[in-house]
Amino acid sequence: MNFTADILTLFDEKWALVTAGTKESFNTMTISWGEMGTLWSKPVVTVYVKPVRYTHEFMEKNEYFTVSFFDEKYKKALGLLGSRSGRDGDKVAESGLTPKAVSDVAVGFEEAERTLVCRKALSQDLDINAIPDFAKETYYKTEAPHTMFVGVIEAIL
Ligand SMILES: Cc1cc2nc3c(=O)[nH]c(=O)nc-3n(C[C@H](O)[C@H](O)[C@H](O)COP(=O)(O)O)c2cc1C
Repeated sequence: MNFTADILTLFDEKWALVTAGTKESFNTMTISWGEMGTLWSKPVVTVYVKPVRYTHEFMEKNEYFTVSFFDEKYKKALGLLGSRSGRDGDKVAESGLTPKAVSDVAVGFEEAERTLVCRKALSQDLDINAIPDFAKETYYKTEAPHTMFVGVIEAIL
């Protein structure tokens, strides 16, 4: 497996979609927070999903998730998927992206340039008392803190 990227700007500037569920029942949303590296001697990606997101239910329920990266030309689609909820309608159809099963248990997109297929290894709510003040004031005034999902990268497509 090989992945080359400017890791410090990858999520922040390029964004990604995190998707959980099966082709029959999945949800996806845009993320710009995440990390990649090594944990327990395995290649991992960590993403942060707030409990209020519809995607959170799918992340909790399913053993696999994918993280997909796209060319700049899909930024508008990612903007839409990050501003509408799958609870309120078929935002994927509206985005113009084409979902596809990347395994029996994971969904990605035809248009993605890279897709990480991840097996969930850890799901843990961030402890509000452990979050630094600057982040507490900016991100957690009204909503519960993100859940951290660590996935072992099983394949890079
Ligand atoms: C550029 C961008 C980055 C985002 N990053 C995150 C993130 O890292 N974590 C998160 O919980 N929400 C993030 N969001 C917000 C969700 O994508 C957004 O609330 C989405 O509509 C949730 O959809 P859902 O309810 O269908 O899950 C981001 C939104 C945008 C536009």
